[in-house]
Amino acid sequence: MRTPWWIRIPVLFFLIFGLMEYFIDSGDKPAIIEYPITQFFMLMVLMILIAIELILKSIENVMFQTLSAEAQERYLTSKSKKMEWKWAKQLYKRLTKSRSIEREGEIILDHNYDGIRELDNVLPPWWVYLFYVTIIFSVVYLIRFHIAGDYTQAEEYEQEVAAAQMAIEEYKRTAKDLVDVNTVEFLSDASDLSAGEKIFVANCVVCHMADGGGGIGPNLTDEYWILGGGIKNVFNTISEGGRDGKGMVAWKQSLKPAEMAQVASYVLTLGGTTPAEPKAPEGEIWVDPDAPEPEESEEAPAEQVSDSTDVAMN
Ligand code: HEC
Repeated sequence: MRTPWWIRIPVLFFLIFGLMEYFIDSGDKPAIIEYPITQFFMLMVLMILIAIELILKSIENVMFQTLSAEAQERYLTSKSKKMEWKWAKQLYKRLTKSRSIEREGEIILDHNYDGIRELDNVLPPWWVYLFYVTIIFSVVYLIRFHIAGDYTQAEEYEQEVAAAQMAIEEYKRTAKDLVDVNTVEFLSDASDLSAGEKIFVANCVVCHMADGGGGIGPNLTDEYWILGGGIKNVFNTISEGGRDGKGMVAWKQSLKPAEMAQVASYVLTLGGTTPAEPKAPEGEIWVDPDAPEPEESEEAPAEQVSDSTDVAMN
């Protein structure tokens, strides 16, 4: 039995469409949008499919004309046979056990309310089986949780909370890269600071020295900043680089935002330390505009660090 054309054409069409999308590498967007030529291609495919159908139809017609009258008859009856879903129909019958309308008279009940009468149908087997399943389920459940005491709801809750907690941690670890100059905060975790130190040692010591005392780059331990102190300015300097021609490149090319936040935090912890060969101060004393209480203290170099940590913890 052949499938009708209105199934054949769409199926073939979408099959070719799917294959095309599968084989053409078009990034995030579907190929049909990324490469407009494919729209034309699919239109051609559709027209060719229709053309094939028309050709088949006319061949069938021509052949039909050549048949004898009796053969034509046979051909038509075989064609009008519908595809039968025998097994599906049987299964349906077995699961519903419904009585055909013609045989309803056998199960009609006696009583009659104003002409409304009732059929004594059996419970449909699909429903009965489902009911048996619930009985088995309840017995297993009863034994497992009320007699054997497998685990309690409270334990289940704890487990799920723990799993969710882990998922949140995981998300935060990856989402750290979402930080930018507006959201960055001083990272006081030892793990972040030691990661920051590693990045500093690997990338920055050539110009700033291991102790931050300065060389080609300025001293990072004093409270004088050329480009501004505090976590946001430092992050910004690391990310975008210093003034043109000074030698401080924009590290956003090679460091991830999370790494820049770590190394920026590490740089801030250098503030107030005493390097072996401190470079003379450059720039201006930087006062945190967001500091909780602007103490007019010029003699405490540690001020710088505590300022930004305070902000971060507020
Ligand atoms: C090639 C040498 C060089 C390297 C490598 C380098 N810097 Fe710099 N850095 C400089 C120079 C030069 C300046 C001054 C920029 C200016 O004057 O605009 C500077 C400025 C800075 C400042 C601002 C200082 C201020 O006073 O405002 C920070 C913060 C800084 N660097 C951090 C880093 C970090 C973190 C790294 C490593 C990821 C790094 N630098 C790597 C040369 C370098």
